[in-house]
Amino acid sequence: MTGVTQSEQMERREARRTRLDLLQRLPPGPGAELGVFRGDFSQSILEVARPSKLYLVDLFAGEQCSGDVNGSRFETVDMAGMEAVIRRRYAGRADVEVVKGVSWDWLRRQSAGSLAWVYIDTDHSYMTTVMELRWAAHAVARGGVIAGHDYHNELFPGVVRAVREFAAQRRLHVEVYDGDRLASYVMVA
Ligand SMILES: C[S@@+](CC[C@H](N)C(=O)[O-])C[C@H]1O[C@@H](n2cnc3c(N)ncnc32)[C@H](O)[C@@H]1O
Repeated sequence: MTGVTQSEQMERREARRTRLDLLQRLPPGPGAELGVFRGDFSQSILEVARPSKLYLVDLFAGEQCSGDVNGSRFETVDMAGMEAVIRRRYAGRADVEVVKGVSWDWLRRQSAGSLAWVYIDTDHSYMTTVMELRWAAHAVARGGVIAGHDYHNELFPGVVRAVREFAAQRRLHVEVYDGDRLASYVMVA
């Protein structure tokens, strides 16, 4: 039996849970959303999870196209302009830090175990996800949560492959919140 097959068996599908339910599961403390886009989910994180500190990390460069949680209503956005909008929105809030940077490189520079959770939602490629998971494991405290969006084998096979390999190597269970068309995954570090 290969590691990937073992990991598939370690997946638990939660058919009725959405990523809003996932927010209620995040442990208290500081957390990071990697891939912010228009900041819509960031707002939900602040309202539901109420982290002690929220890092909003994005490349904030070029034009980016993204859909909603169900992969519909696509929009193309000038991310330099969006960075300015998001910085204005959270100006004066000590509990929010907007970071322009590469997701995994930012994680790599955090102190070991300094975050309670990470939510990954960037370019969904295999290699980026591998790097993000690797450095999330460094930055997130034991018992913290490593989660992400777009766990969908046909549309984002790189995400599913990277998560299954990571979970198999570390013997972690993967909860799949399947209530949105594009599922989210949750692992406890
Ligand atoms: C799918 S959107 C994020 C959507 C947002 N999380 C939400 O739910 O509303 C992807 C975002 O990831 C950013 N991005 C892509 N690759 C990145 C990387 N390696 N590091 C940081 N941000 C990245 C893009 O600029 C884009 O804004």
